[in-house]
Amino acid sequence: MSLIDSIAAKVPGFRPKVAVVLGTGLGSFAEEVEPVADIPYAELPGFPQPTVRGHAGQLRLGRIGALPVAVLRGRTHYYESGKADGMRLPIETLAALGCETVVLTNAAGSLRMDMPPGGLMAIADHINFTGVNPLFGHPQRRFVDMVDTYDPVLLQRLVAAAKALGIVCHTGVYIWFCGPSFETPAEIRAARTLGADAVGMSTAPEAIVARHAGMKVVGLSVMTNYAAGMVPGGIGHEQTISVANAASQDVRRLLRAFLEGYS
Ligand code: HPA
Repeated sequence: MSLIDSIAAKVPGFRPKVAVVLGTGLGSFAEEVEPVADIPYAELPGFPQPTVRGHAGQLRLGRIGALPVAVLRGRTHYYESGKADGMRLPIETLAALGCETVVLTNAAGSLRMDMPPGGLMAIADHINFTGVNPLFGHPQRRFVDMVDTYDPVLLQRLVAAAKALGIVCHTGVYIWFCGPSFETPAEIRAARTLGADAVGMSTAPEAIVARHAGMKVVGLSVMTNYAAGMVPGGIGHEQTISVANAASQDVRRLLRAFLEGYS
């Protein structure tokens, strides 16, 4: 039985419309979902076994209001394997299950003093200057159009949903760095010159794969720190997890409202 068929067989008649990928410290959003089934990645051949703390490793199928959703609780990053296409199978599986849109969430460093830790940013575009691409070696439809990758209509709806809730949600450009080391202050200055507002180690390759699979993409970053060199002191993964956890209430409220209003 194919992977798609084996998942579909667990949830007869259920067809998710929107997928959500939960980033570091944001896993609690899954509690907003009325579950239909929880499937550990261990039962899904080819799904990544997350190695990063703050990532669970489970596919939750369920509903937010009337909307059927598929939530990936945990992702794999390029730096875990050195393979840029680690999220290709999960994203393509969600597309094949029926998801027309994927919401990609992440913890990120802020390059803007007016976007302090704890703040949210809807991703309007990304920069991938890593030199790698998840479509390397892909035999089909390689030359994916990346204009309007982050769907402008859905982006506006996300920002409007935040405004209605009284949650500040900036918009900006996300730059993907490979990690796992954090950036140097010089790299952050370079990234700012290039036009980046936030920096992180995920999301961009997933957005590329999702566009390749014909999905619409929404991106939401939680600022967990000022990027390297912007304020005195260093950066650590502990802070990423604790600030993202603290901001996850806003993320939960915002994504719930956005998804309840999704049509
Ligand atoms: N850089 C890269 N990834 C991150 C950061 C950062 O400053 N903060 C959270 N994820």
